[in-house]
Amino acid sequence: MPKLAVPVSGKGSLLDAMISQKLPIALVIADRECRGVEIAISAGIDTVVLPRVFGETFDRDKYTLEVVDVLQRHKITLIAMAGYLTVLAPVFFEHFANRILNIHPSLLPAFKGEHAVKDALEAGVKITGTTIHIATEHLDAGLIIAQEAVRVLKGDDVDTLHERIKVVERRLYPEVIKHLLTPLPPE
Ligand code: GRF
Repeated sequence: MPKLAVPVSGKGSLLDAMISQKLPIALVIADRECRGVEIAISAGIDTVVLPRVFGETFDRDKYTLEVVDVLQRHKITLIAMAGYLTVLAPVFFEHFANRILNIHPSLLPAFKGEHAVKDALEAGVKITGTTIHIATEHLDAGLIIAQEAVRVLKGDDVDTLHERIKVVERRLYPEVIKHLLTPLPPE
């Protein structure tokens, strides 16, 4: 049985949806104290917070090795990033190649990066959405597994649009992960 870890940094509403969908989450890992951590703890999931330093003294390579170590000690085999905000060093993607999923609030390859929803609004697109993909060391790149479109409505701001995207994400991400965790029937 694959062992699933979910890295979080923020509100944890996708994590909450995964828990509601009864995904077998073995570990939640966070780079800061956040609502996601509270959700994980109250669901009784093993939770590790590795607080990161913000600013120039941040040693990305060292921090990444600490993250890899925690995941290895928990024998994690599949990682589903859910709003995790630290960009990890390439060694993370080497250790878990093709076993890291990410979800991004745009229709990739459009609007990569931290401000995907704002950038989509500013570009004036009428349709944006969400993408689930294999994460690689290149930000918001990697094989696309699933996408779903979300209409931009008149009067939308970043919060209203992002929340409508997240409504889709909270259904789609658990569905895709469940699918990936389901073993193929024997021949
Ligand atoms: C989601 O919109 C996801 O696409 C992005 O971060 C957000 C996480 O939301 N990568 P939450 O913290 O789970 O509410």
